[in-house]
Amino acid sequence: MSKLLVCGGAGFIGSTFVRQRLLEHGDEVTVLDKLTYAGREENLKDLADHASFRFRRGAIEDPAAVSGAIEASSCEAILNFAAETHVDRSIAEPDAFVKTHALGTYVLLEAARAQSLRYLQVSTDEVYGSIDVGTFTEESPLKPSSPYSATKTGADLLVQSYVHTYGLSAVICRGSNNYGPYQHPEKLIPLMVLNALHGDPLPVYGDGLQTRNWIHCTDFARAIGHVLEHGQDGEVYNAGGPDEETNLEVVNRIIELTGSDSRVEHVIDRPGHDRRYSLSSEKVRALGWSPRVRFGEGLSETVDWYRDNAWWWEPIRSGEYRAYYERQYGRSLA
Ligand SMILES: NC(=O)c1ccc[n+]([C@@H]2O[C@H](COP(=O)([O-])OP(=O)(O)OC[C@H]3O[C@@H](n4cnc5c(N)ncnc54)[C@H](O)[C@@H]3O)[C@@H](O)[C@H]2O)c1
Repeated sequence: MSKLLVCGGAGFIGSTFVRQRLLEHGDEVTVLDKLTYAGREENLKDLADHASFRFRRGAIEDPAAVSGAIEASSCEAILNFAAETHVDRSIAEPDAFVKTHALGTYVLLEAARAQSLRYLQVSTDEVYGSIDVGTFTEESPLKPSSPYSATKTGADLLVQSYVHTYGLSAVICRGSNNYGPYQHPEKLIPLMVLNALHGDPLPVYGDGLQTRNWIHCTDFARAIGHVLEHGQDGEVYNAGGPDEETNLEVVNRIIELTGSDSRVEHVIDRPGHDRRYSLSSEKVRALGWSPRVRFGEGLSETVDWYRDNAWWWEPIRSGEYRAYYERQYGRSLA
């Protein structure tokens, strides 16, 4: 059993990780989360009364909030999931990305250094940029192309500098595109599922042939736990999913799974849109991890989850998200 401080634990992947560690590993977990538009206590609703779970609202760039959470939790490790995560928003408003990824990561690293805590940085395949053929390894050059991925890359480099300079016990785990329950509807899969369930058009960027390497959020969360326990200080571990599909293939699967009459509508592509991501996971596989959920099965379960959990997405779909959607796609939701 470990005592963990999970920063950003009220988000999509963070809450999946918290659920796994409490229910499958018997860890004590404290979540520190700013609760931005993407972070929701509803994501942790089923865990709120668990004896080993605590929630604290606070920002990772706030040193007092971070030291308060470390002291109250007596944690042995800090995991940093906290991030601004939507590439489209990073293009429209990059400032929060710089603050959370650069300053926030710095504050957490300083706190981990002061207390000699283990540190895990959650990162993304987007730091490598786009690849037409083949697959990225941990040795591939870093070539981020959006304010989101550039600031995530900066955070990774800062983590590695703390290992090299101060001997911090830190590791980095980079995931490919995640999907599953509790993902904010601004992201491709929940957006398309909810639009399909409501009979809204399905807005696909450009030709829709952008290819992604899909990983179920429970598989990525297990990889993160595995790297925390078995990863070597200073090392990076890629965790990619078992399947690659184009956005258009994903959307067509969703139309089939929902039985929807919604039509695909090609819209102007995202500026600088990366064409393909692909991750080699040999290094983390050598530590004993492998993905369990194939995309076809995971997507079908994910569609069912959104269909059955309107309590979760209704408040989002009727709130600020409507205005965001109109700004982004130039039309309103049904
Ligand atoms: N979603 C993906 O496909 C994917 C893939 C690979 C890596 N990642 C990485 O995984 C991590 C989690 O992603 P997600 O999809 O769960 O994101 P998310 O947007 O669902 O959740 C992010 C969480 O961080 C919190 N947060 C944001 N800024 C904060 C701050 N300054 N202080 C404290 N909390 C803050 C939010 O309130 C939210 O709860 C991120 O680091 C992301 O870069 C995501």
